Amino acid sequence: MRRPVSRSRRTWIGTSWKMNKTRAEAVAYLAELNEWSGTSGLDVDIAIFPPFTALATAAAQLTSARRAPTADGTDWPSPSLHLGAQNMHWQANGAQTGEISAEMLLDCGVSVVELGHYERRQRYGETDHSVNLKARAAIAAGLETVICVGDSAEDRQYAVAPEVVARQVKIAVRGLPPQALASVVLAYEPAWAIGTGGEQAEPAEVEAIHRVIRTAMGQSHGPAATESVRVVYGGSVDAASAGSYATQTTVDGLFIGRSGLTAAGLAGVIEEFCAVAPDAAGELVRLEGSAHDTG
Ligand code: PGA
Repeated sequence: MRRPVSRSRRTWIGTSWKMNKTRAEAVAYLAELNEWSGTSGLDVDIAIFPPFTALATAAAQLTSARRAPTADGTDWPSPSLHLGAQNMHWQANGAQTGEISAEMLLDCGVSVVELGHYERRQRYGETDHSVNLKARAAIAAGLETVICVGDSAEDRQYAVAPEVVARQVKIAVRGLPPQALASVVLAYEPAWAIGTGGEQAEPAEVEAIHRVIRTAMGQSHGPAATESVRVVYGGSVDAASAGSYATQTTVDGLFIGRSGLTAAGLAGVIEEFCAVAPDAAGELVRLEGSAHDTG
């Protein structure tokens, strides 16, 4: 049996398919993921963000394949699978051509929505203000939210990443009720570490910005209220690099892109991340055999 991961906050690993996959491809992917998930024995939240057109199909697929109890009654830890959308509008309805409301997402079986990804900020006019409006509307509607924040290559070059990211966080979460923070995930998405031309972020640099994010949350809502918020890393990560981020105590999980475009790729990243757990001294280290030991 595999070892459950023991961290102060439950590990959260998500993948956005961005503008990829038809409904048939979604079905095939989720069938494979469900099969892996049923035997993985990993105690982790997994969130999948298909395009809008595949949401209802994906919801049906996730519901129909819940894991049956084991024959010997062993109570294995198992992943929780969540269905996410990549964006939403803050209004409940109205004349907003091409937009989608929280109610429509809930109607498709969605439980979590991603807001403020750098591609939307950079190419589609997303602002700190609109991210805040969307976050408030999502929480009010009962959706969990993944709020993406991040610095540009220029911010990094001029060493202003901490203040840029702290500002984004404070504006994004402004006005969210403290009791809602348990359903908020903050994803650090450095623009310079995303996509095919991206640079691999050093785990120590990620750790430093994650501290900035948690401090900004504390300044906004108080340290105790923000204890439950998960801060995950959202630059490019694959199975080979996942473990290096997992050893950072401030990294509660990952939000991945291309490496999660296949179910096997996503499973590999999750296994490598979850192979890192506290040792006897409480240090986060790779525990040999933990992720791949099926005995
Ligand atoms: P990538 O995307 O892994 O394809 O670089 C990362 C992201 O957008 O979060």
